[in-house]
This record gives sequence, structure tokens and C-alpha cells, in this order.
Amino acid sequence: MLSKRLMAIADLVDDGSNIIDIGCDHALIDIYLTLNRHVKCIATDISKSSIKVSHDNVEKYDLSDQITLIQTDGLSGINIDNIDTAIISGMGTSTILKILKGYKFNNLIIQSNNNLKSLRFEIIKKGYVITNEEIVYEKGRYYIIIKFCLGRKKYRYIDYFIGPIIRLNKRKMDRNYIQHLLNVYKVMLSKTPKKKIVERLFLNYKIYLLTSIK
Ligand SMILES: C[S@@+](CC[C@H](N)C(=O)[O-])C[C@H]1O[C@@H](n2cnc3c(N)ncnc32)[C@H](O)[C@@H]1O
Repeated sequence: MLSKRLMAIADLVDDGSNIIDIGCDHALIDIYLTLNRHVKCIATDISKSSIKVSHDNVEKYDLSDQITLIQTDGLSGINIDNIDTAIISGMGTSTILKILKGYKFNNLIIQSNNNLKSLRFEIIKKGYVITNEEIVYEKGRYYIIIKFCLGRKKYRYIDYFIGPIIRLNKRKMDRNYIQHLLNVYKVMLSKTPKKKIVERLFLNYKIYLLTSIK
């Protein structure tokens, strides 16, 4: 029922959690978690049509009593007192950071569509550590899912850039992802004019970092 990406997100949720899925779109992850992992779910979306689709899906599985659906922008109007885990997936980093501004959860499970370095940096700055990272390759695209938990730890630039768990893992998927990033930055470098010295230096530095862990 779940795509590889959604299953990887679900796998990072602890059994019995109280979660909020912000930007649920279809609520498939909430249905799966309620049926299989005994979680309590609030699923929200800014879009009326997404809430309608979610509502129809939740009804189909007869879970209306167990999954609360709310149409709202981010977390506005929501009481988060009993929620321990927030899931945000399929949005860009700036939207994710805007939604989380002023809020804290014990656990965050995030799959951002862009700018992972800023995402890691800004969330860690809010008082979190990275406890897990998963890479999913689906339909020709890499998705990175990051689990943050409350805590403090010092990280280096390479950790924000590549991910502290991905950097240390030696699984085939991690190596393929690092090779993919290397190819992306090499192409960027080849397209950056010689006179853009600072940009080229920075790209060369990133290529150096990626090569050093390959
Ligand atoms: C690409 S979908 C991802 C859906 C689902 N989370 C997933 O990973 O498959 C992004 C969803 O986020 C919702 N969204 C965007 N900005 C939002 C916001 N500020 N507050 C709540 N939902 C938002 C959109 O309406 C859309 O349904």
C-alpha cells in the first residue's frame, strides 16, 4: 500500500507514538501507522482537497474515530501538548522551517525536497540531534529522510552537507547516493564560468569532501 518513500518514513516512527503528520495530502502514512503500529494520529493539510482525499481514505479503512483530520496552515490552532512526533514530508526546507518556527517536539521525521544542508543546520540549531537518516531511491530520484530528536551535539560542515549518519554508513545505497552527489557537483562545476572564483572554490571543496568519504 505504501510507496518505498512513505514506508521508510513510517519505519522511523516508534510504536505507540502520538504523531502529527503535517501536510498529509492523502493520509496514507497515518492509515498505515494506525493499523500497524498502534500510533495516535492527527493529520493536517493546508489544502481543502487534500483533506477531502484524506477523509475518503480514512473512511475506506473505517478509521475516522482514530485519525483526526484538520485543515490548517502548518500548526496553527493545533494543541501539540500530547504529541511526541511530527512528520513533515514532501515539502521544501523553507516551508518546513516556517511551519516548525516556535514549536518543539521530542522527535521530528522530515523528508525535505531541497536544501538538506540548511534543513540540518537550522533544526540542529533549534536543539536537536540527528539519530537516523534513510535514503530511498524511487522513480529515478533520491529521497533523504532524517529523524531528529531533542538533544545537543557538535556537528561539522560535512555533517550538515552530507548527513552524519550517511557519512559514516558504508551501505551500497549510501555509496550510490554519495556518487550521485559527486556527479551533480562535478556537472555544476563544469557549468560555472572560470571568473566565478568563489563559487568554483566552494564547489571544489564540496567535491573534495565527497571524494574523501567515497
Ligand atoms: C507533495 S505533498 C506531500 C504529501 C505527503 N506528506 C507525502 O509525503 O506524500 C505536500 C503537501 O503539503 C501540503 N502543505 C503545503 N504547505 C503546507 C502548510 N503550510 N501547512 C500544511 N500543509 C501544507 C500540501 O497541500 C500538500 O498536500
